[in-house]
Amino acid sequence: MSIQTKAVYIETFGCQMNKSDSEHMFGLLEEIGYQSTSDIQLADLMILNTCAIRQGAEDKVFSYLGQWHRLKKSRPGSLIAVGGCVAQDYGEQLIKQSPGVDIVFGTHNLHRLPELVLKAGQTGKVVVEIAQQLPEDLPEIPVIRQNSVSAWVSIIYGCNYNCTYCIVPYVRGRERSRTLESIVQEVKELDQQGFIEVTLLGQNVTAYGNDLSPSIHLGNLLESLGAQTDIKRLRFLTGHPRDLTIPIIEAVAKVPQACENFHIPIQAGDDRTLRRMARGYKVDTYRQLVEQIRAYIPDAAITTDLIVGFPGETDQEFMNTVSLVEEISFDGCNTAAYSPRSHTPSANWDQQVPEELKHERLRFLNSVVNDVAKKRNQPYLGKKVEILVEGYSARNNTHLTGRTRTNKIVNFPGTNELIGKLVSITITGANPWSLIGTQQHSEDSCELISN
Ligand code: SAH
Ligand code: SF4
Ligand code: F3S
Repeated sequence: MSIQTKAVYIETFGCQMNKSDSEHMFGLLEEIGYQSTSDIQLADLMILNTCAIRQGAEDKVFSYLGQWHRLKKSRPGSLIAVGGCVAQDYGEQLIKQSPGVDIVFGTHNLHRLPELVLKAGQTGKVVVEIAQQLPEDLPEIPVIRQNSVSAWVSIIYGCNYNCTYCIVPYVRGRERSRTLESIVQEVKELDQQGFIEVTLLGQNVTAYGNDLSPSIHLGNLLESLGAQTDIKRLRFLTGHPRDLTIPIIEAVAKVPQACENFHIPIQAGDDRTLRRMARGYKVDTYRQLVEQIRAYIPDAAITTDLIVGFPGETDQEFMNTVSLVEEISFDGCNTAAYSPRSHTPSANWDQQVPEELKHERLRFLNSVVNDVAKKRNQPYLGKKVEILVEGYSARNNTHLTGRTRTNKIVNFPGTNELIGKLVSITITGANPWSLIGTQQHSEDSCELISN
């Protein structure tokens, strides 16, 4: 008897971890006869993979579920499942707030999705299953990747910090690293399948291996991957500055495949704010870290995350963050207005900064971030750089888009035979968030960018 194929549609909010989890959901569901569809109107199963990092992301969940509930009525027998960080936080409560939801599963029991879907389908009853932690033995979960050039590989789950604004430790639990052997094996397979680039993922990827016995560090993993696989590019995302140690920086400098890009969220450029955020470092410690990175790898791109309007943040303290962006000269910054989250201490503090002021600060900071990023891109002009071509540019279908080793987006005229290839591009234009280039037809090697 052949299994009847059904269609699953997944909408993913949040970070790369969530996007990677969605690829694993596709893999798991294929085993029970589901194929992916990009048209929600055709879906027998609609999954919302949610993010709880800010209130806006959480609100989006309920507005989507309202629309999906209406859609479901026009497709009798279809199911709605909610996973990810909001599901982990709300559990049963989500059903009460969102009629029409059939399945709620959390961040720790992704591997149970097929069972839960079958159960909901067979019984017609709502199924809620949330686990408080990952299983003792981390399950190897099948995956169907949505990109054939660049792959995500989760190496550590959870976070052991308790930053006073952040919900992640509550919804993702304590740090759990995968073994070095299982990661090396996965990357070998990706190379054999033709992938060019691998991004190692974790909520705190720089803490990789602390919980293994004997303990190892991210540098050891990069070295093993460099020595034992032929993958062309290795990246990692996202880490805590305290855990980015010299041996890790040395490994990035030494392993040829490790790309010259460090995403190290600082959050604020002010010591009192950092202390109240419980970040565990001072601005000066961070400055030294940047100096060390630039001493080992002068061309490295350094990007960061910043929060404005943390409770009690004064104008002066905010301006300290702005000055730091100019002083460090970040290649790029993800910026956000502080959002009070449940289960976090700072949500209940007095002196919440008014919304209007937070947004005024955010606009000002963003203009400085853009100016600084644009300046950082100037030295690329006229240089030849290696680009991994990812596909057509979303804005212009005569242009391809790809990234430098330093993770700069480059758009250039070209056609589809270059997709998935490493090509040499001469940079002719620089915007704050992307570069423009033209392809070289010579066999010349690429130069690195020096400032
Ligand atoms: N582990 C990383 C960050 C992961 S969360 C680190 O330690 O830095 C991703 C980003 O979301 C954070 O860097 C932070 O800038 C932002 N973020 C987290 N909680 C937030 C909140 N309550 N309000 C606004 N932004 C927040
Ligand atoms: Fe959140 Fe990052 Fe702090 Fe962990 S280290 S609590 S993920 S901001
Ligand atoms: Fe959001 Fe959860 Fe990632 S809260 S940022 S999806 S870890």
